[in-house]
Amino acid sequence: MKGRLLADILKGKKLLLIIGGGIAAYKCLDLIRRLKERGVNVQAILTKGGEQFVTPLSVSSLSENKVYQELFSLTDEAEMGHIRLSRENDLILVAPATADLMAKMASGIADNLATTTLLATDKPVMIAPTMNSQMWGHAATQSNLSVLKERGTLVIPPADGDLACGEVGTGRLAEVPDMIKEIEAFFLSSRASSPLMGKNITVTAGPTHEAIDPVRYIANHSSGKQGYAIAAALSARGANVTLISGPTALSAPDGVEKVAVISARDMMDETAKSLPADAVICVAAVADWYVDGTPDQKIKKQNGALPELNLIENPDILKSISNHESQRPPLVIGFAAETENVINYAKTKLAKKGCDWILANDISGDVMGGDDNQVHLITAEAEDTWPHSSKIDVAKKLTEHIEEYFKDSE
Ligand SMILES: Cc1cc2nc3c(=O)[nH]c(=O)nc-3n(C[C@H](O)[C@H](O)[C@H](O)COP(=O)(O)O)c2cc1C
Repeated sequence: MKGRLLADILKGKKLLLIIGGGIAAYKCLDLIRRLKERGVNVQAILTKGGEQFVTPLSVSSLSENKVYQELFSLTDEAEMGHIRLSRENDLILVAPATADLMAKMASGIADNLATTTLLATDKPVMIAPTMNSQMWGHAATQSNLSVLKERGTLVIPPADGDLACGEVGTGRLAEVPDMIKEIEAFFLSSRASSPLMGKNITVTAGPTHEAIDPVRYIANHSSGKQGYAIAAALSARGANVTLISGPTALSAPDGVEKVAVISARDMMDETAKSLPADAVICVAAVADWYVDGTPDQKIKKQNGALPELNLIENPDILKSISNHESQRPPLVIGFAAETENVINYAKTKLAKKGCDWILANDISGDVMGGDDNQVHLITAEAEDTWPHSSKIDVAKKLTEHIEEYFKDSE
């Protein structure tokens, strides 16, 4: 990218602009002009709310493209318009992103062309929220914002100042030059130039559940947050991510293909099925044992006699992928969750499993289920202690390391 003119970075890029129903929608008309000047092909979806503030004619005249408005359009849907729109652009920008659109995105509602496209997309999504400052500060909006950020949605934050409603506070749509800067920054740092673009990466996440009988199981406290954050970070850099997840309360990050599994044996099968892959990252907290001979009926209490559980060792996913005879991925990474002697155990695990890197974490605190993590990256050559940070930041840092790995191996 060195020596490349900033002005050129947007040339030839394809952007889908979703215009929501905010008073600041008028700014989008200027935004379209400025993007067109920079060589961006802009397609636009105008929501029912958006139509109240700008006309389809203005948007299509400025973008020099048809404006899409209806989900149930016979002409557009003859070619599955919502799927096509969601896939053929490099970036989707929602501006103004109203409270309503944010809530629908966070909940996965697909009740119109804009929300259906946002749910169907495998492309990065950027939102520029704008609204009354009370609406912005409302717990519901802030919670939706957190959900969206966690899934990898990029956010151009609203500015402070005079609002159209006459109040003063946070909620103004970012100015057009600032939105352009954010879009440029995205493409500069973007997945388009990332060595992860198009790489197939498998991530395992969450706990596994090992059945005792039809109603009971052995599990652990893994929430899946770290694995999901890694899947989101890799996907945001252009990797095709398959997320093989044990039971969690989380939904798949944008653009990530999730395969839901229950037991360690299912996870093993699905991970093997995902090969060949450029990298496999085993983040899941896989149960070490399963119960032999699970009965079809619930085990009943028997006058104080305790049922015997015959435990059998589960397949070792990390070890078998690391030693796969024909399809050993170039990069295999494991996590080592320990409650003591973290680094030494991790070094032993690296040698024993035959993987390339281990991320060792001390889970004696509230790491399992919590939002933060403290990890050490152990490789054959080095060990590096990363600062205590959020699981999202750990995921970003790991993604940067993986990018370096693929850059060097190109
Ligand atoms: C004059 C007017 C201005 C509005 N401005 C905003 C706004 O800036 N942000 C917002 O979230 N909602 C705003 N609303 C409410 C939205 O238009 C409303 O929630 C609508 O359902 C959003 O539609 P959408 O999902 O198509 O964006 C405004 C409503 C009116 C009548």
